[in-house]
Amino acid sequence: MTTAVVLTAAGSGARLGHVLPKALVPVRGEPLLVHAARGLMAARTEAGERVAVLVVTAPEGFVADVRAALETDLGAGPGVVPPVVVVGGASRQASVAAGLAALPPEVDVVLVHDAARPFAPPALVASVVEAVRAGHRAVVPGLPVTDTVKRVGPGGVLGWPVEATVPRAELRAVQTPQGFDRALLDRAHRAAAADAHDESVAASDDAGLVERLGEPVWVVPGDERAAKITTARDLAVAELLGDDLSPA
Ligand code: CTP
Ligand code: MG
Repeated sequence: MTTAVVLTAAGSGARLGHVLPKALVPVRGEPLLVHAARGLMAARTEAGERVAVLVVTAPEGFVADVRAALETDLGAGPGVVPPVVVVGGASRQASVAAGLAALPPEVDVVLVHDAARPFAPPALVASVVEAVRAGHRAVVPGLPVTDTVKRVGPGGVLGWPVEATVPRAELRAVQTPQGFDRALLDRAHRAAAADAHDESVAASDDAGLVERLGEPVWVVPGDERAAKITTARDLAVAELLGDDLSPA
């Protein structure tokens, strides 16, 4: 019974527009990926299980920087091996596949988590592991959607009329960490490997690959603190709030 995390940190952060790759950008004095790693290592399930293996995907040319960033107290402790850093790929999907290839054989549950979600609370991480351990082989955290969502077809402002309003009660905005039975996630990535070379055709999350196999994916309650940092505004919000739920 060994749980591992693939922490995706190999993106460039084009939409953030910082000089550094997004995962190395500091918030509250430390890189996003360090916050994310600490939150993962702090998680404990009700049965007392913790993350034992951490594999981090780094942007090409930044492996040494990612390694150096991880040389801080992550709260690892006994039984936890030092983090392994691998070079990521051309898409998030390819990076996760590279991370999976680096996992030791004893791992049976894998979480995939985005460094871009630095303040995902340990309790959220634990709830995902618990759901997988309880027999749900693919688990995602999801939050109800607050915006009204419309389908716009080819889209374009004033270029195409709205096609439909999607019933909001059916929708969940999905976060990470996503948790999987290792064999199922390996199979899902193998089946989709041909799409991994290009971000525009690759999957934006891992559960999507499991869905393509026709296997069930289950939702546990998400957490606002696991919000993804995409834009400079998101970074400013994270700087203000850190792992607080609200500014109050
Ligand atoms: N990621 C990765 N390998 C890639 C692309 C993304 O490991 N080839 C990681 C990112 O580092 C991030 C997570 O996947 O932690 C989610 O991706 P996203 O938020 O899109 O980050 P970036 O791709 O870095 O940002 P952008 O799309 O704006 O360039
Ligand atoms: Mg991206």
